Amino acid sequence: MQRDGINKSIWQETTFPELPKSPDREHVEVIVVGAGITGLTAALKLREAGKSCVVMEANTVGFGTTGGTSAHINTVLDTPYTAIIEQHGLEAARTVVESTRKAISVIKENKECYKIECDFAPCSGVMYAQNEEEKQMLIAIKDALAKVGIPCSEVDSIPVPASFVYAIEFEEQARFHPTKYLAGLVSAYTGIGGIIRERTVVQHVEKKNDVLQVKTDNGHVLSADFVLYATHTPPGVQVMNFRLAPYRSYLQVWELEREIDCPEALVYDMQEPFHYSRTVKQESKSYLLVGGQDHKTAHHDNETNNFRQLEAYIRSLYVVNKKTYEWSSQYYESQDKLPFIGYYPGKRHHRELLSTGYGGNGIIFGTLGGFMMAELVVHGKTDFQDIYSPGRLGPFSAIGDLLVENLDVAKHFVKDRFFLEEIDELATLSRGEGKILNYKGKRIGLFKDERGELFAVDPVCRHAACIVKWNNTERSWDCPCHGARYAPDGRLLNGPSVAPLSQLLLTPPK
Ligand code: FES
Repeated sequence: MQRDGINKSIWQETTFPELPKSPDREHVEVIVVGAGITGLTAALKLREAGKSCVVMEANTVGFGTTGGTSAHINTVLDTPYTAIIEQHGLEAARTVVESTRKAISVIKENKECYKIECDFAPCSGVMYAQNEEEKQMLIAIKDALAKVGIPCSEVDSIPVPASFVYAIEFEEQARFHPTKYLAGLVSAYTGIGGIIRERTVVQHVEKKNDVLQVKTDNGHVLSADFVLYATHTPPGVQVMNFRLAPYRSYLQVWELEREIDCPEALVYDMQEPFHYSRTVKQESKSYLLVGGQDHKTAHHDNETNNFRQLEAYIRSLYVVNKKTYEWSSQYYESQDKLPFIGYYPGKRHHRELLSTGYGGNGIIFGTLGGFMMAELVVHGKTDFQDIYSPGRLGPFSAIGDLLVENLDVAKHFVKDRFFLEEIDELATLSRGEGKILNYKGKRIGLFKDERGELFAVDPVCRHAACIVKWNNTERSWDCPCHGARYAPDGRLLNGPSVAPLSQLLLTPPK
């Protein structure tokens, strides 16, 4: 399977079932945009309810964050319940817990009903403090867990060879293999008549004559009663861009000298940013997975340093044999730290729904979001809809569809010709490196591959015209504004953009 970066995640060994061929249709009841855990959870529930459904995926199944997660299944979230209680109140925090339990039960039901072999393993969670300040914070978190109804106890040993001054353990957590689970969802969904269209970018959705007209990049227009966005941020320039911030997290998998040192529990330290770890089993052998070093997308000069720092952290704790995988992955934080799941704000017709802003808890909230969106389509209501309502932060100003204007900007730029001998900084570009360089006062994005071949792009993001930045570890052009990402040659990797970066014509020296 493919993913949205050059580094390979441990989950990419999974082979997805071949997608059944199906004739093009003019109308379906529901179009789901995005074939990750959110989209496929929703699509399966909709087919179970008898809805005709097409999943449209810009790349391939699991291409986005589902293929790059750490696959922690948890009721104790990255945002501490102390913060959730403070910002949203105790009742709301209890509802959040209830919703995470619902998500876990959805995963278990799907696993059991469709006999999905996904290495699901219930386990406990452990959080530990390494100084007095962290200890006081962790004591407050323990109190908050008690208030929201998550059983939790102090422990005097932890499953990590680290010094600590205080630690807590809580039950009800689990881990699994996310792409084996996703492959199971694909089989289950297509097995009951669901359709998946890969390499199909949804470019425009418009309500006309009581249906939604969905236009894709291959020129097709399909109508639907409902459109569900399972794409982190809905495509295009829209209100949610102001409610979400893109982040990247870094993960490594190591073979340890002593396999027994791999923790059975999900483990979290309290550093800033914190580290998370778990065990992954492959062919009955245990490996250590550790993640962390999170930062805002395209806000770090040298992403490779994050891997170095993560490796140094792991080596400071464990005797390691070898690193088997490392990759980074993208997630989105919402403005008030709770996901947005429900009706698209500002659209009164209640035919477009979205699910996003999961923070680092994509498996839990992706499952919950898929389930809730399907419930809203089928029943017009669902549990938890108020607390996760995308409209909860007050009225949104109307924002027009700026997409067409941005496409025009890019088109004009690409008409220019670029002469290699006139690019002053070309000599500073190494093989395997990308850079924004100057060309007669204009900026161009240049990537030189291992063979020395050059790829030039207009670095103006096709979403809302911010300038992209080179990500030197995933080899992508990342946008610092709303997280769109592009391959070295400009191909679209992640929305909210719906178009590739414009490629520029380079003229070699005579
Ligand atoms: Fe919005 Fe690039 S993602 S401007």
